[in-house]
Amino acid sequence: MVGYAFMGAAHSQAWRTVNRVYDLPARARMALICGRDAGKVADAADRLGWDAYTTDWRELVTRDDIDVVDVCTPGDSHAEITLAALAAGKHVLCEKPLANTVAEARAMAAAAATAEAAGVRSMCGFNYRRVPAATMMRQLVADGRLGVIRHVRATYLQDWIVDPQFPLVWRLQKDRAGSGALGDIGAHIIDLTQYVTGQLITGVSAVTETFVKERPLPAGSSGLAATVDGAEPADGTGSAGGHGPATGTVTVDDAAVFVARLDGGALATYEASRFATGRKNALRVEINGSLGSVVFDLERLNELEFYDATRPAAEQGFTRILVTEGGHPYMSAWWPPGHIIGYEHSFTHQMRDFIEAVATGADPAPSFADALQVQLVLDAVTRSAELGSSWTEVEPALATVAA
Ligand SMILES: NC(=O)c1ccc[n+]([C@@H]2O[C@H](COP(=O)([O-])OP(=O)(O)OC[C@H]3O[C@@H](n4cnc5c(N)ncnc54)[C@H](O)[C@@H]3O)[C@@H](O)[C@H]2O)c1
Repeated sequence: MVGYAFMGAAHSQAWRTVNRVYDLPARARMALICGRDAGKVADAADRLGWDAYTTDWRELVTRDDIDVVDVCTPGDSHAEITLAALAAGKHVLCEKPLANTVAEARAMAAAAATAEAAGVRSMCGFNYRRVPAATMMRQLVADGRLGVIRHVRATYLQDWIVDPQFPLVWRLQKDRAGSGALGDIGAHIIDLTQYVTGQLITGVSAVTETFVKERPLPAGSSGLAATVDGAEPADGTGSAGGHGPATGTVTVDDAAVFVARLDGGALATYEASRFATGRKNALRVEINGSLGSVVFDLERLNELEFYDATRPAAEQGFTRILVTEGGHPYMSAWWPPGHIIGYEHSFTHQMRDFIEAVATGADPAPSFADALQVQLVLDAVTRSAELGSSWTEVEPALATVAA
């Protein structure tokens, strides 16, 4: 694994538990973790359960006893690490968004296609697909229970940078993150809605905004928390110093809002923001079809709301389904019905599917080609916003992989 902070910890938790929860044809051994600071990565290896550590990710790629490389770094290193790992015959799990640019994503998807011919697998970490209620949502759509899909309504809202004194962490720098709320959280709802509906976004009209354009430089950061020099940790609660440290320019969007058309005929709206005061990690998707509607809300991730319009009129209404039965996706290995699961379990499910695919010689999803298609949507949103919200078609992903 490369990276040991937020996703490094979440993925480690999943690698630790996956073989204890699921009966799988292969067993994960947590061999080597990489970070740039020797002291910190040594501590992380001990805390997270890795056999050894290194400060050079190339060691992961060159060691013969390593089969899988898990990339948990910011987007500016995804392409370099992933391309080297695939070329060395390592299976790759790479965090989202796949890359910082379409060109990088295209190169990664092409390398994945070449590697696949040699039995080397790759997958992008859109973990919300693997929340059981979200997976079930897709099954309801695929089974025709919603009829023809007319509307998709997706929001992903956070508020950790509302304070203008929150520092300029890597997520606010275009050269490190590619884009802002759009690529960080917007990418999740793009993937999730396309996965659930089985429809791809064909075109968009977008607005983006950077509300706070200058911020103090950070002294350190991890995940969504950071410090400025001499200040208490800033965690989005408004407690970040304010004694005049050096500042830098925010080069990404704070919020992105767009309308879209899907190739099955649905109309969709998307909103991704880090300025939704009070909303911590609020991901919500609602789908309306000719025969029913379904709603997923990450803050109540064990539940699904389902409206079945084929029921007798007197009995119609939104039904709350508790998605904890043994027959629900992924749930048979966990607890008795009603004994709920949480955020981290989506990563265990992700590792389960990845290990199973690698061990059985199947292609895991979402593939790098799927993640390239998400990248092309992000690119279309950015271009539309730059052109005063003009309608912008999404370039087809398959053509770009082949090119
Ligand atoms: N799937 C999800 O829900 C989810 C959630 C958060 C983040 N992410 C994604 O995960 C990735 C990492 O985000 P994070 O929140 O964990 O970031 P983070 O800042 O918490 O951690 C990044 C880690 O990468 C390490 N790192 C950076 N450059 C490196 C390099 N060149 N070599 C070795 N190590 C390096 C840092 O030291 C740190 O350990 C991003 O792509 C992000 O978009 C996904």
